[in-house]
Amino acid sequence: MKTLRQALLATCVVIALPAAAVAQDAEVLHWWTSGGESAAVKVFADAYTGAGGNWIDTAIAGGQNARNAGVNRIVGGNPPTVMQFNTGEQFSELVANGLLRDVDSVAKANNWSDVLPKAVVDAATRDGSFYAVPVNIHGQNWLFTNNDVLQKSGVEAPQSFAELIAAAPKIKEAGFTPLAHGGQNWQDHVLFDAVVLETGGPDLFLKIYRDKDTDAAESDEFRQAAETYGKLRALTDEGSPGRSWNETTNLVLTGKAAAQLMGDWAKGEFIAAGLTPGKEYGCTIMPGGYMMGGDVFVFPKVDDEAAKAAQDKMAELMLSPEVQVAFNMKKGSVPVRLDVDVSAMDQCAQAGMKALQDPAKQVASHNFYSPDLVGTTRDVITQYWSAPEMGTDEFVENFVSAMEAAY
Ligand code: GAL
Repeated sequence: MKTLRQALLATCVVIALPAAAVAQDAEVLHWWTSGGESAAVKVFADAYTGAGGNWIDTAIAGGQNARNAGVNRIVGGNPPTVMQFNTGEQFSELVANGLLRDVDSVAKANNWSDVLPKAVVDAATRDGSFYAVPVNIHGQNWLFTNNDVLQKSGVEAPQSFAELIAAAPKIKEAGFTPLAHGGQNWQDHVLFDAVVLETGGPDLFLKIYRDKDTDAAESDEFRQAAETYGKLRALTDEGSPGRSWNETTNLVLTGKAAAQLMGDWAKGEFIAAGLTPGKEYGCTIMPGGYMMGGDVFVFPKVDDEAAKAAQDKMAELMLSPEVQVAFNMKKGSVPVRLDVDVSAMDQCAQAGMKALQDPAKQVASHNFYSPDLVGTTRDVITQYWSAPEMGTDEFVENFVSAMEAAY
């Protein structure tokens, strides 16, 4: 049984290797720039440095910004050594165009297929080869709440969007923002998907994103989700438009807002602030299922053998048991390996792991499906969120068109 101390020691784990094995620069392009994210990615950097390598950090704020920059560099022939994507389909086109190398030798040597959930193996492999190293599982439909704000407002922690909406008048009356929301298109999308999952369960969600079934978007359940989503606009504050997710988390963390619906990377901000779940803040997986997301790193094709060795070492380190626990304890996610001891992780992580045990409750996020559909639907969701005057019928019409426009 690993103790918390052993797990935390892994933060600076030094996997001793002959210096000659990895005296190699590795430029890593990612989008982890918040306090919690920076603390987490440092675990990877320290592990690689500890193995004798030189981690060159290329951090670009905003997932879409980082992905666009990295893809342009790969296509332009000046790739980073390693690059972040979300778990799922985002890097498929790069594989199809022969621009990424597989890490099957590392995967086979370390039995990845035996220690990873099948859904994650499927998301990280193409034609049976591993073209990505998965590094975590993030739940994306958590409601994080400030316990002091709830207590001062005289309300319990909402267990559904209906309860959040019902509690809002008391929270406002007490002088707080009921729902802290960052008005950026991907955040609007995360919130919308959580409402769809609560309203129609995995069945409705998968009919939209996996099956591209436009009848599902015209169903009563989808309309009901759109109605609920529209009601949430009134719970946010005037600073919402354009605000980053972590600035938004900070409103809950500092007691200005009661709640934020966000992935558990937001928990990384509470961890970085030294706060404890169940004490200063609460975490609730919203109804309907556990929306499963996460992160991977891919390895652009390079000619230099030393760079390939660096890529292989990076892949091995990122998925090593010790680094997995140390990284995820700071990131707010749970380890992607099924064989590590997570007993030292907090109550939110334990709830997430429990939810992950029930396949019927697991729903892979929209990133596991068509990136084009994610893009077309994201545009109409954000348009609807930003236009209180838009009725449900018009939104549904736009959403169906967006589904039809996606390949
Ligand atoms: C997600 C990613 C998380 C976190 C979040 C906000 O796509 O999976 O690790 O970084 O973006 O930046």
